[in-house]
Amino acid sequence: MSHLFPTYQRWEIEPAKASGSVIYGKDGLEYLDFTSGIGVCNLGHRPEAVEQAVKEQLELFWHVSNLFPQSIQEEAAEKLAKASGLDCVFFANSGAEANEAAIKLAKKATGRKKIITFLQSFHGRTFAGMAATGQEKIKHGFGRMLETFVHLPFNDLEALKNEIDSDTAAVMIEIVQGEGGIHVVNEEFIKEAGNICKENGVLLIVDEIQTGIGRTGKPFAFQHFGISPDIITVAKGLGNGLPIGAAVGKAELREHFGPGSHGSTFGGNPISTAAASAVMDIIFEDEFLKGVSAKGDTLFQLLDKELGGLEVVTEIRGIGLMAGIELSAAVQPFLSELRKSGLIALPAGEKVIRLLPPLNVRTEDLQKAVNIIKEILIKQTVTA
Ligand SMILES: Cc1ncc(COP(=O)(O)O)c(C=O)c1O
Repeated sequence: MSHLFPTYQRWEIEPAKASGSVIYGKDGLEYLDFTSGIGVCNLGHRPEAVEQAVKEQLELFWHVSNLFPQSIQEEAAEKLAKASGLDCVFFANSGAEANEAAIKLAKKATGRKKIITFLQSFHGRTFAGMAATGQEKIKHGFGRMLETFVHLPFNDLEALKNEIDSDTAAVMIEIVQGEGGIHVVNEEFIKEAGNICKENGVLLIVDEIQTGIGRTGKPFAFQHFGISPDIITVAKGLGNGLPIGAAVGKAELREHFGPGSHGSTFGGNPISTAAASAVMDIIFEDEFLKGVSAKGDTLFQLLDKELGGLEVVTEIRGIGLMAGIELSAAVQPFLSELRKSGLIALPAGEKVIRLLPPLNVRTEDLQKAVNIIKEILIKQTVTA
């Protein structure tokens, strides 16, 4: 018997080693990794510059506590602020913790109780993250949820106008709902939502945990729409595999997160922060981001050309290197067959194949992955 709680439905491949876009299994086989550790290893596995930054920090100190000033945190915070156009950073260890920080900050800063989120959203597994999430299956068995959250249909402007009131602290939204099925926000909706929030003194929180750090071809996905969120939350790709999350907010929120208001023993630990700083040096470069957009265009062209005509494919959607292929059938059997053919991909909801390749993926690997998917989709639907 395993001594681990069976919280995860594990795959059959045990990694022995990983490098770039490839996971080398203990079975002796090589797998093309189009999951990037669920949107984490955006520079592939063990990128040299990040490994080097981590090694250098390992030789200085590993942990001293947040009672000490730490230049490595200041350095990473400055890079996050510069790339997002926001001002102040709270470092946490994960996405859910970054959202906890954002939720606490929004409630404290406004003195209001209600936070609006959306159906099919995903904001984490802590009690506030789970309550914020707009999916019943995540909450099953955990009893009464925090009363803070109201869930509205995604992209429904009328519903938002009707729900916002003088007790609303924030609207919290993903620009692309990742876990919920790769649903991209509607441009008119998000722009108008930003205006409505401003008019009503409501904070706009954008959860960039899956979409941020270059995944969509911009540093943060909200930047595709010219909106100005009050807080964004980041994690996953920030440390490229070292655990770190952050809530990043406007300067006027600074006074509400004073000493004693919030904290974390490990949040912003120097090893993870050194990794984050090195990651941002690479990903936030214009040329790198242009490369992500170009690879994203190539990926969607290939997906449309090779898969668009298949009967089992009902829709292909996404931005940059965040792609969803919606099927007319359950996705899990297809994913299992893809792994047998050497490609690791993710589900998003019940019927969507989610592709999150590393942002520096080679074009030939995009072609290879799409060929494998096509072959499996054809084979599986013929034999079904
Ligand atoms: C949009 C979004 N928010 C929050 C989270 C939770 O992040 P973590 O698993 O690091 O707590 C995730 C994780 O998948 C996510 O995709």
